Amino acid sequence: MAKLAVNVDHVATIREARGIDAPDPVLAAGIAELAGADGIICHLREDRRHINDRDLKLLRETVKTKLNMEMAAVDEMVEIAISVKPDMVTLVPEKREELTTEGGLDVMARSAHYSEVVGRLHEAGIKVSFFIDPDPEQVGAARDCQGDIIEIHTGHYAEAESEDEAEKRFERVIRAAQTASSVDLGISAGHGLNYQNIKRFKKLPLVQEYSIGHSIVAMAVLVGFEKAVREMMDLVKAF
Ligand code: PXP
Repeated sequence: MAKLAVNVDHVATIREARGIDAPDPVLAAGIAELAGADGIICHLREDRRHINDRDLKLLRETVKTKLNMEMAAVDEMVEIAISVKPDMVTLVPEKREELTTEGGLDVMARSAHYSEVVGRLHEAGIKVSFFIDPDPEQVGAARDCQGDIIEIHTGHYAEAESEDEAEKRFERVIRAAQTASSVDLGISAGHGLNYQNIKRFKKLPLVQEYSIGHSIVAMAVLVGFEKAVREMMDLVKAF
């Protein structure tokens, strides 16, 4: 049975839109775990645009399942990870101007650097996942750098504008998963997955875990909205 790890970044995005302390991604993580989530993910970005250092620290103290810290493979983040000790780290490319992570990591292009980063994280007892495009060569590079897991970037699949295109892009995801399985890497998938496009993955049991954030937060805003309005109505109508 596949696992679901819930990314709480966008709960923090809503908080940051007001610059106050609600909604709290740490509380959201607890609720996600109560709902059965197998893990919690947060991305500590260099610009701290959503998750901040306090969130990461509290998540480490409170998450009971598995905490996955997404981060760029830079010294500052490696040092934070070694001190906070999430259960695992997912290495992602990071550009300041992007709205969200745009592409997979080019592991081949900087394999000596990534090997060194993996070595430092492993020494601290932290597993390492590489977020990569569905490209068998990148899978091989992730293996060569001693990665434990790959997370297949499903963003291109999710953005396909026709069924045919989606199927073609999904074939690439299948091939990447098969390559990863043949070299004994753990296999996750994520980015842009929602309540519709995830259905195709029923055909791909090789994927062990899904990393999903935005669509869950978006659904929560809608399905929780009625309750939230009713509760405020009850208060106001009692005046
Ligand atoms: N995986 C990685 C590596 C990501 O950077 C993100 C976005 O933060 C996700 C998964 C989750 O993507 P989404 O928010 O579109 O579900």
